[in-house]
Amino acid sequence: MNKPLTMALTKGRILEETLPLLARAGIEPLEDIHSSRKLIFATTRADLQLVVIRGTDVPTYVRHGAADLGVVGKDILLEHGAEGLYEPLDLGIARCRLMTAGPVGWQGSGARVRVATKFANIARRFFAAQGIHADVIKLYGAMELAPMMDLADLIVDIVDTGNTLRANGMEPLDEIARISSRLIVNKAAMRSHYRAIQGLVDQLAAATGGS
Ligand code: PRP
Repeated sequence: MNKPLTMALTKGRILEETLPLLARAGIEPLEDIHSSRKLIFATTRADLQLVVIRGTDVPTYVRHGAADLGVVGKDILLEHGAEGLYEPLDLGIARCRLMTAGPVGWQGSGARVRVATKFANIARRFFAAQGIHADVIKLYGAMELAPMMDLADLIVDIVDTGNTLRANGMEPLDEIARISSRLIVNKAAMRSHYRAIQGLVDQLAAATGGS
């Protein structure tokens, strides 16, 4: 039999919404992803296996062809670029917004601002487009802490319910992008396995319910 196609999934919150979607498309891992320490999972389809990795690593695996397809947040694609990748389908899951946010009542005092974020490229582009000079401070988590500790004036972060901002005395300001998870495909794999991959794209599109 031919080597199975490999789909890289983003672990965490996105995975929780990806697995039911895959199940609706008839794709289920043969063992419980949550209770296993494995990283590679065979599925109910002999021609498809899953790997479960960090979101920031998904485009890397797919770009290099180590995985043929992937499921990743649009925020990651905007931040790290999508060269070498097709993005044929918005899966409509893990919807949220990428926003600027600041302490409640914060008023900017001019053309310079300190911004803490893990989305440094997105933040630089956004503030540059507004004619504001942003000193971007790269963090890897807990962005909401930065204004409280006077490390930054504003943050750029994912906002879902807004509870994290509220709990830390902050409010959302500008929406930078609407985010959801996307199916990405390696460009060479799309050519060499066109029928199999397009079949998967069609099945997943049907499973999203047109969302
Ligand atoms: C995201 C984001 C916020 C929170 C927003 O973090 O960084 O902290 O969710 O959600 P809310 O508006 O519903 O409160 P996530 O839990 O994804 O973890 P991360 O920091 O590892 O990205």
